[in-house]
Amino acid sequence: MSGQLAVVTGASSGIGAATAEALGARGWTVVLVARRQAPLDALAIRIAAVGADPVVAALDAADPDTVAAMADGIRAEHGVPDVIVNAAGVGGWRWPEDTTPAEMENSLDAPFRAAFHVTQAFLGDMIARGSGRIVHVGSPAAIQPWPGATAYTISRWALRGYHEALRQDLAGTGVTTSHVAFTEVTTPYFDTNPGARERRPWLGRLARTLTPAETAEVILRTIDRPRPQVLHPAMLRVLVVVHRMAPGVATWFVRITGAKRAVGS
Ligand SMILES: NC(=O)c1ccc[n+]([C@@H]2O[C@H](COP(=O)([O-])OP(=O)(O)OC[C@H]3O[C@@H](n4cnc5c(N)ncnc54)[C@H](OP(=O)(O)O)[C@@H]3O)[C@@H](O)[C@H]2O)c1
Repeated sequence: MSGQLAVVTGASSGIGAATAEALGARGWTVVLVARRQAPLDALAIRIAAVGADPVVAALDAADPDTVAAMADGIRAEHGVPDVIVNAAGVGGWRWPEDTTPAEMENSLDAPFRAAFHVTQAFLGDMIARGSGRIVHVGSPAAIQPWPGATAYTISRWALRGYHEALRQDLAGTGVTTSHVAFTEVTTPYFDTNPGARERRPWLGRLARTLTPAETAEVILRTIDRPRPQVLHPAMLRVLVVVHRMAPGVATWFVRITGAKRAVGS
């Protein structure tokens, strides 16, 4: 597919930026969504250099009115997107008693609210057209939680819940939804969330670390051949199989090998 239109959230960094760049390299028009203007402008220059025509949309994707205004502008100028990649995501890894209401809200803003609002803004048009591909970038925490990352986990479950609801709601419409989960990816995520890397589950550490470019390849493959659930690398699929066959054992094992509360702190 070439000459198509994609909206990519989280495009100022990490997985979203790499995906937007890969779609631009295919000649797609890519709408770059994130809050920070400067990294989006820098990415737009890189994408334009390969001959594509990116659109910078610096906004808070968790704000429904702002997203609706952006969608109106995109529809008027470029039409209805063929693809939405929901890669925006934030959230520190903390114990529940250390999670403030503000941190909980912040974690829900992205990925969950951002994915909901951006998808919702275009969904009616996609259904009316009878085509569209939606890719949600999630986490293995939405399948098997680990200790000490409560708000992060809740938001990823909300994202996966939205995807599972869409699977039912979009059946027969020609619009697909995919939930893609990765192990650790070398993005700035862990720099902006100090302490998170140390709390990665032991099993997850056995899987190899991915580059943002590798995740972009997986996402582009998912766009080409949509599947409901994509787990990458293969090691992650082992975790999921174990979780399905013996959920109690998997949960226990991830707990005893996971982060421990500092007693008395
Ligand atoms: N890195 C990993 O190891 C890994 C592994 C599995 C899953 N994931 C998941 O993948 C997602 C992306 O992770 P990443 O590693 O690419 O993180 P990242 O490098 O920190 O990028 C996060 C992106 O989300 C954007 N964003 C955050 N809140 C936003 C909002 N309200 N509106 C619009 N954009 C917003 C940020 O841009 P602005 O700050 O400019 O808004 C940034 O572009 C996260 O949900 C993460 O949990 C990551």
